[in-house]
Amino acid sequence: KRKLILDVDTGTDDAVAIMCAALHPHLDLIACTSVNGNVEVQYCTNNTLRALEFVGRGDIPVYEGLSSPLARPDFPVPRAIKFDNGVHGRELPIPNTTLRKQETGAVDFLIETYRNATDEIVLMPVGPLSNIAAAVAVFPKLVDYVPEVIIMGGAHHKGNVTPQAEFNIWADPEGAAKVFAAGFKKVTLLPLDATHKALVSNERSRKLEALGTTAGLAASRFIDQRIRAYDDNQPMEERNACPVHDALCVNFMLDPSVVTTLFRHVDVECHGTLTVGRTVVDTHYRNLKDPNCHVAFGADREKFCEFLESTLALGPKV
Ligand code: BDR
Ligand code: CA
Repeated sequence: KRKLILDVDTGTDDAVAIMCAALHPHLDLIACTSVNGNVEVQYCTNNTLRALEFVGRGDIPVYEGLSSPLARPDFPVPRAIKFDNGVHGRELPIPNTTLRKQETGAVDFLIETYRNATDEIVLMPVGPLSNIAAAVAVFPKLVDYVPEVIIMGGAHHKGNVTPQAEFNIWADPEGAAKVFAAGFKKVTLLPLDATHKALVSNERSRKLEALGTTAGLAASRFIDQRIRAYDDNQPMEERNACPVHDALCVNFMLDPSVVTTLFRHVDVECHGTLTVGRTVVDTHYRNLKDPNCHVAFGADREKFCEFLESTLALGPKV
C-alpha cells in the first residue's frame, strides 16, 4: 500500500477524494489535515470527519490547520460565503459525526510525521496551500523528507474564481508561491485545464448511487449538488455534468496515465489586480528558470469515471 496525507478544505469534491483514498485497497490514507478554503476551517474539519465516518473510516485522524491565508489579509473569506454557497454550502449533505479532530495542529503534525517517517508518504494538498507553506516556513528542510507533492490547483487556460485564477491558489497566493519555490523533490499540479476535461455526468452519478454503498450514495449526492451549482453559476461546455477536481489527484496517484503533463516552471502572481492568484506556467520556456512542476493539461474522463465507480463500490453497504 502507498501512503498519503490529504490536505483538504472539505467541500464536496474534497469529500469524494477523501472517500476514494480511504477505501482504495492500494492506498493507506494515514491522515487528513484541514485548511480554511471552501468553508471556514472548523467546517472543513467537521466535513472531513463526517466523510470518513460515513464510509467506515472514522479511524483515520484529522488535524486542523490554518484558519486564514498565510499572508494576504484580504482573502480570509471562505468560498462558500463569498462566491457559491451552492457548490459546497457549509455542511456536507450526509449525517454529522461525534468524531473530533486531534489535539495536535496540522502544521506540527506534518513536520513531525515527515521528520520521523520510515516509509514514503505522498503529500496531496487539494485546498489552499496555507498549511504546506506554513510547514515549510517553520521547517524548511521538510522538502527533503517529502517524496512527492500532488496538488489540485491553478489554471493556465481559464480560471474559475476570477477570469485568471483558480480558487485554491487565489485564496492564498503567497502560500502557493512559497510551495512552488520551496524545492520539493517532485511536484505535480492538476489545474482546471485537466479537471475540466474529466467531467462526471448525471448518468455516471446515477451509477454511483446504484452501487449500494454509503460511499456511492454520498458521492452521488455531492455530485448532484455540484451539477446543479455548475449549471446555474459556471456552466461547463457540457451541461448536466461537473468536474470533481480533487478526486482526480487520487486517481493520478494510482494511475498517472489518467492525465498528460508537461514539465515546466510554475510561479504565482501575488501582486496583480486583475491577475492575482494566477499560476503562470512557462509553457514555451520564456523565462530562464528551470522547470519545477509537472503540469497536467489533459485528462481521460472515462478512466476517471471508471476509477470513481470501482473505488466507491467498496466499503459499507447502504
Ligand atoms: C478547487 O476549489 C475548491 O472549491 C474545490 O474543492 C477544489 O479544490 C477548485 O477550484
Ligand atoms: Ca478542495
